[in-house]
Amino acid sequence: MTVTTVTTSPIDGQKPGTSGLRKKTRVFMQRHFLENFVQSIIDAIGGVEGKTLVLGGDGRFFNDRAAQVILRICAANGAAKVIVGRDALLSTPAASNLIRKRAADGGFIMSASHNPGGENADFGLKFNGANGGPAPESLTARIHDRTREITQYRILETQDADLSQPGTTSMGGMEIEIVDPVADYAALMEQIFDFDAIRTLLEGGFTLRFDAMHAVTGPYATEILENRLGAAEGSVVNATPLPDFGGGHPDPNPVWADQLMKVMMGRDAPDFGAASDGDGDRNMIVGRGIYVTPSDSLAVLAANAHHAPGYMAGLSGVARSMPTSRAADLVAEKAGIGSYETPTGWKFFGNLLDAGKVTLCGEESAGTGSDHVREKDGLWAVLLWLNILAARKQSVAAIMRDHWEEYGRNYYSRHDYEAVPAEDANALMDRLRGRLDDLKGQEFSGMTVEAADDFAYRDPIDESVAEHQGIRIAFTDGSRIVLRLSGTGTEGATLRVYLERYQPADGKLDLPVQDALSPVVAAAEEIAQIRKHTGKDAPDVTT
Ligand code: G1P
Ligand code: ZN
Repeated sequence: MTVTTVTTSPIDGQKPGTSGLRKKTRVFMQRHFLENFVQSIIDAIGGVEGKTLVLGGDGRFFNDRAAQVILRICAANGAAKVIVGRDALLSTPAASNLIRKRAADGGFIMSASHNPGGENADFGLKFNGANGGPAPESLTARIHDRTREITQYRILETQDADLSQPGTTSMGGMEIEIVDPVADYAALMEQIFDFDAIRTLLEGGFTLRFDAMHAVTGPYATEILENRLGAAEGSVVNATPLPDFGGGHPDPNPVWADQLMKVMMGRDAPDFGAASDGDGDRNMIVGRGIYVTPSDSLAVLAANAHHAPGYMAGLSGVARSMPTSRAADLVAEKAGIGSYETPTGWKFFGNLLDAGKVTLCGEESAGTGSDHVREKDGLWAVLLWLNILAARKQSVAAIMRDHWEEYGRNYYSRHDYEAVPAEDANALMDRLRGRLDDLKGQEFSGMTVEAADDFAYRDPIDESVAEHQGIRIAFTDGSRIVLRLSGTGTEGATLRVYLERYQPADGKLDLPVQDALSPVVAAAEEIAQIRKHTGKDAPDVTT
């Protein structure tokens, strides 16, 4: 077996976004593309000589072949060992757990999350550090710099490794340990949650439906929910991971998980419904006849986490991404614990979690998690909900009602305008940035602007600063509009408009969401001139 040093040159478009590098699969399959990016990561982290790494992905098209390339490059760069999920499968939270549990130096996760998979869809790769979390901004910047100056990569010329059975094999001088992708993760869940209580709930006739959306959580959910907790066989649907996710869009929200929504709003709905995304880090929670927004879910979990053994001692604090509704802040305030507002992207929670400042964190984009790993975790959120339902012996609808009656309700929705030409989207944002100072005190739809800014975040631990993280417009009545451009899209720009309106506990708690938000929507249009800039009369996706 020989190590070949291949002469290469920088390839445009290798700037990692909100979570790693995401591109069309065919772009990743171009000559030298994946190789350059992997070598750039390795160079940026100071090499992998003698190091132990974790490798796995969500099983989408090209997952298997990309895994072999990454293994060859790691071997050629002198890595001591790579721990790989069987068939190169690992959900994102399971990969995070494995890095931590095995004290690895980091890991490669192959995923484009909830983006569709297939030869004509998307692929992605990200690197997580020794704490199990996504690369911080500083490392992402180093990786990007390296992709712009790379002149060579090292690769081992050898046969593919057989990854189909747990066990040990090798590639050159590098050891490869193949592990069951589910086992360690399931064990962690058993430590955190009261499996006996959930089992009793299910024995008592409580019914559930988990939609794995043909993605990586199928085997995890089947093992945990059906085999270990005793949910009826068939409770987990779309449970077989497919390279193209069955042609679907594995994003757990009411639009893409419409099959589940239909069942949950129907006459024979089970008590509880949930779904997860391509790589298993997102979650959607639905009760019989009631959808729980991710922002509300974070707040309810924060208020009730003590029902689970893993959080019995209470929470140290709660963090949410800036566009996420302020519902969780209200819980933190009442509990007298810290609350933090961070830029979009899980990497910004890492330092807070590592420093023990927060126990729970979440994003409006269906991401919820805790300090048990350093990624958001779809099945974890489902199990925490089940643990709470088992302890409180109430329906999802009753729990939501109680919550709003105690804290008030933050009506919330996100409107996405997709595939907008980048220059038009930038023009909208630039125009807004130039007007921020004028907005203060102005009235729109009967609401007065209290503050408007371009969100900048100073990390309280390492003091690093992230600027231009989105425009925030807050109104005196507690309503809020946030606008930002997506960092994960692969086609043109995606404009995200986040809308929030607060009703106090004695206010109107039962309005249809889009009705409650209509003045905020009108104000957003007036302030940002969305129609004119995007050329669209309505958002492409409303969640
Ligand atoms: C989106 C979500 C963000 C999440 C990210 C990765 O990023 O909005 O909350 O962290 O996906 O799952 P965006 O496309 O908005 O940059
Ligand atoms: Zn994901």
